[in-house]
Parts: sequence; structure tokens; C-alpha cells
Amino acid sequence: MKKLFFLLPVALFACTMGSEKELAEANGLRIYQQHCMACHGEKGEGNGLLYPPIQKSDYMLADSVRTLQHIVQGMSGPIQVNGVSYNGIMPSEPTLTDVELGYLMTFLYNSWGRDGGHFTSEWISKNKPLK
Ligand code: HEC
Repeated sequence: MKKLFFLLPVALFACTMGSEKELAEANGLRIYQQHCMACHGEKGEGNGLLYPPIQKSDYMLADSVRTLQHIVQGMSGPIQVNGVSYNGIMPSEPTLTDVELGYLMTFLYNSWGRDGGHFTSEWISKNKPLK
């Protein structure tokens, strides 16, 4: 019985901890809500012809390094997302750290039915554009 009391807190701790990737996704959701949701929508659905969707976006899924560049540096000019043309301006996000960018990228590539891997801060610093 004594042993059980000892094990209980350990088991509870293990349950709430989750994997590193799950943690990144949860933090990434918060960053998405603060920095991206206003334009791209609660579920990444976009907004008419002004803001392209990122949920099921063929453009985003085609190239994760390009996505990272666009988040850090912003983007403008004509693009096609799922066969629809957009030509808007997305502001840059120069303040997010590599750890935060890793969380955000992990969230983006694992949300809304996707399973796109874990983007670590090491991956970010290797693939981030020079400022
Ligand atoms: C002020 C509105 C605005 C904010 C905030 C914003 N975006 Fe965008 N985003 C745009 C617009 C407009 C485009 C299309 C730009 C173009 O036409 O060249 C775009 C394009 C994109 C694309 C490529 C096209 C696609 O749909 O796959 C991705 C990915 C993306 N944004 C992700 C993000 C992420 C992640 C954030 C948060 C860090 C963010 N955006 C914040 C307006 C915004």
C-alpha cells in the first residue's frame, strides 16, 4: 500500500506531461491565436479573397522552408492557393524566437487533420532566412 501512494503522484505527473511534440503544438496554438488568427481565421480557413486559407493549403504544404521564410520576413505578390489567386500583403514576424517559431511551425503542420512532423528550434535556426 505504501508503494502505491508513492507511485500515484509519479503516474499523475506522467499523464499531464505529454510528448515534446504535443507540448509544441499546444504552445503553437497560442502563438497562432496571437499572431495569425486575425487574418487566417480560427481554423485556418482564411477570409474570402483577402486572406488565403492555411488549413489544407497546397501552397503551404509544398514547402516548409518557404513557409518559415514568409513568417519571418512577411510576403506579398501574386500566389495561388488551392487554385485560387491571392495578391495581398502579409506582415513579417521578426520578434518570434527560434523556440516559438518551432512551436508555431509544429502547430501549423500538425493541425486540422495533418501529421507533419516536429519542427525543433535547431531546424528553425538551420532554415531561417538571414535578417
Ligand atoms: C495582416 C494579416 C495577416 C497576418 C497577421 C498573417 N498573415 Fe499569413 N498571409 C496574409 C496574406 C494577405 C497572405 C497572402 C500574401 C500574398 O498574396 O502574397 C498570407 C499568406 C500566408 C501563407 C502562404 C499562403 C497559404 O495560405 O498557404 C502562409 C503559410 C501564412 N500566410 C501563414 C501565416 C502565419 C503562420 C501567420 C502568423 C505568424 C500569418 N500568416 C499572419 C495575411 C496575414
